[in-house]
Amino acid sequence: MENANYTLITGASGGIGKELAEICAVNGQKLILCARNIERLEEIKKELEEKYKAQVFIIKSDLAQANSASLLFKEIKSKGLSVNILINNAGFGDFGFFEKCDLKIQLEMIQLNITSLTELTRLILPNMVEQKYGRIMNVASVAAFQPGPLMSVYFATKAFVLHFSEAIANELKGTGVTVTTLCPGPTKTNFDKAANVTNTALFSGKLPGPKEVAEFGFKKMMKGKIVAIHGFKNKVLVFAGKITPRRLVVNMTRKMVDKK
Ligand SMILES: NC(=O)c1ccc[n+]([C@@H]2O[C@H](COP(=O)([O-])OP(=O)(O)OC[C@H]3O[C@@H](n4cnc5c(N)ncnc54)[C@H](OP(=O)(O)O)[C@@H]3O)[C@@H](O)[C@H]2O)c1
Repeated sequence: MENANYTLITGASGGIGKELAEICAVNGQKLILCARNIERLEEIKKELEEKYKAQVFIIKSDLAQANSASLLFKEIKSKGLSVNILINNAGFGDFGFFEKCDLKIQLEMIQLNITSLTELTRLILPNMVEQKYGRIMNVASVAAFQPGPLMSVYFATKAFVLHFSEAIANELKGTGVTVTTLCPGPTKTNFDKAANVTNTALFSGKLPGPKEVAEFGFKKMMKGKIVAIHGFKNKVLVFAGKITPRRLVVNMTRKMVDKK
């Protein structure tokens, strides 16, 4: 018989995903953690087992590769586990003019940020609906609310995550399964270094840490909130973007993303 009480977190080897793993462990959830850096996952597993007596499975997976999500799902099934909380957190961005960018990196970004997220959701959802309980958190960004020159593909992937997640949240009303889109603003993780956007207006000033964002997201997910924008400033910016002409919003976003 399958044990239906696992929380699957993608991108749990660092940043927001690692903090989410700790919060889930504190709340007594059994975990399946995945990322590419298996050594880091081993350290996190050891720490969560020692600190919280958590039950933790770790799986190495590069979700930027085609079919990796279905392989991950097969591995979970082969261990006799199933998932009632899914946190699609893994993601990355990339800075630069689209015309000159590395196309392979953009396509891997789409595979990770969009395709694997969609695939895992589709593969895991039927079991949640059958059990009449499930929580899904898809990590988007405040980038989801407008086009982003110089990070065009990244902003567009996050718009997909937001729209897709809101739509299925609506379809799932009354099933016991909720879908939360977490929209962090700039946050102190490895994201900016990986995306080459450290020296931008977006990542200057005092930024929240990943723990604060993860705690906020976890609470909203457990309550079944549909869209969770972290931080007052980000909420105001998202609202302002809705009432400002789109051409201006795109120009202003470019100024935020461009190098200082
Ligand atoms: N930090 C921000 O400013 C910010 C703002 C808005 C939204 N977000 C979103 O928040 C989410 C988490 O990002 P973060 O800020 O915590 O960044 P991070 O510190 O760079 O962490 C990213 C996580 O994703 C994993 N990952 C990256 N590529 C992967 C791949 N191909 N396959 C599997 N896992 C992969 C990484 O693990 P491995 O390297 O071990 O694979 C790591 O655990 C992302 O979706 C990001 O877009 C971040």
